[in-house]
Amino acid sequence: MTRHLPGKEKHVSTNRHEDPKAWFMQARFGMFIHWGVYAIPGRGEWVMYREHIPAEEYAKLADQFNPKHYKPRDWVALAQDAGMRYMVLTARHHDGFCLWDTKTTDFSAPRTAAKRDLLAEYVDACHSMGMRMGFYYSLADWRFPGGLYCYPRDPAIDYEPMVAQAHSQIREPLTNYGKVDMLWYDGGHPGDIWRGAEMDAMVRALQPEIVTNGGPGTAGDFVTHEQNTDGDPRPWEACVTMNDCWGYVPSEKGYKTVMQLIGTLVTCASKGGNLLLNVGPDPEGRIPAAAVDRLRSIGKWMRVNGEAIYGSTRTVLRPPSEVGNATQVGNRQFLHIHAWQGSTLAMAWVGNRVTRARVLATGTEAQIEQKGDRVWLHGLPQYAPDPDISVIELEVEGEPRYPELRFHF
Ligand code: GLC
Repeated sequence: MTRHLPGKEKHVSTNRHEDPKAWFMQARFGMFIHWGVYAIPGRGEWVMYREHIPAEEYAKLADQFNPKHYKPRDWVALAQDAGMRYMVLTARHHDGFCLWDTKTTDFSAPRTAAKRDLLAEYVDACHSMGMRMGFYYSLADWRFPGGLYCYPRDPAIDYEPMVAQAHSQIREPLTNYGKVDMLWYDGGHPGDIWRGAEMDAMVRALQPEIVTNGGPGTAGDFVTHEQNTDGDPRPWEACVTMNDCWGYVPSEKGYKTVMQLIGTLVTCASKGGNLLLNVGPDPEGRIPAAAVDRLRSIGKWMRVNGEAIYGSTRTVLRPPSEVGNATQVGNRQFLHIHAWQGSTLAMAWVGNRVTRARVLATGTEAQIEQKGDRVWLHGLPQYAPDPDISVIELEVEGEPRYPELRFHF
């Protein structure tokens, strides 16, 4: 049974009729956090593998990992300011270092320099601040035979110690930390060694309302699309970096612009998916300034335009991709314009009569001209009302639908 810690579940809906997993497809925007001892060398979370560092040598990093500035409440506050609705922290990556107090290994934060259960502090911050919260967990552990992504299964390797560790390790944070909203699996290679059905049954018995991206051989509640926003007919989430790295790389210069990041969020929402946007905190526990700045700007945008994102679905409106994108919430449709067209916006292939059009950033109401499926919005601001992406809310008669198509002009 799940152990619920008293007073830590403010965010949990008490509406008994509500689907306990529905929050996930409403949330649309979350924070991914890649953080562990690999932040010290600052060459990404794959440094052990890429530089072929022996496990004993790599383990010494834990003797220096003592994050003095780790204040997960600041992370949660930042995520909330950015308009994010959930967070996923790497409880353990492929290197095997556990952020929580585990009985399975000494290679953990409480038993090395930090002497703190860093995962528990994150959980407490999320619970007390009403943030949905999940754990990323890598099944593969490079310190074990077969952990080096040997694929397919190698009959010469005994995988059982690594598999047994994964079962025991997953059980701990799902038992000892109250409600966990999400388990985010990674590293499930080779796919047929993990006793996946048994693992999934354990996870769901411990946390009946948990949402997962599917352990090995199990369907999960949603699918992960890594660094791509192509979309999926199933519930889906894109996990995307702000730069080119997941873990902390201080020299990283390739940060995407705020407009690109908002555009990525809009693209996910327009295809009925979530964006899990990554940050890589430094070894002291601070999220890099370049990421903080971008998140604050996204937050400003979300405070004006979030109603076009949360709970959004695909819509039948298809503005030219050179101009913008579209989402739908209930019966309202939203145009997300990145190439502002001046005081008149022309659209076509509109299946309903448009009754109202309003710019969210300014409240400007457009004058609507419509001839069949062709629509012109007049009286809009001459210049883009939002420097990044400007959103126009449309109200239409009836349920949004495609026009009757005529394949000639
Ligand atoms: C890739 C990276 C891994 C990261 C993951 C996040 O698989 O190799 O390090 O955690 O993406 O989706």
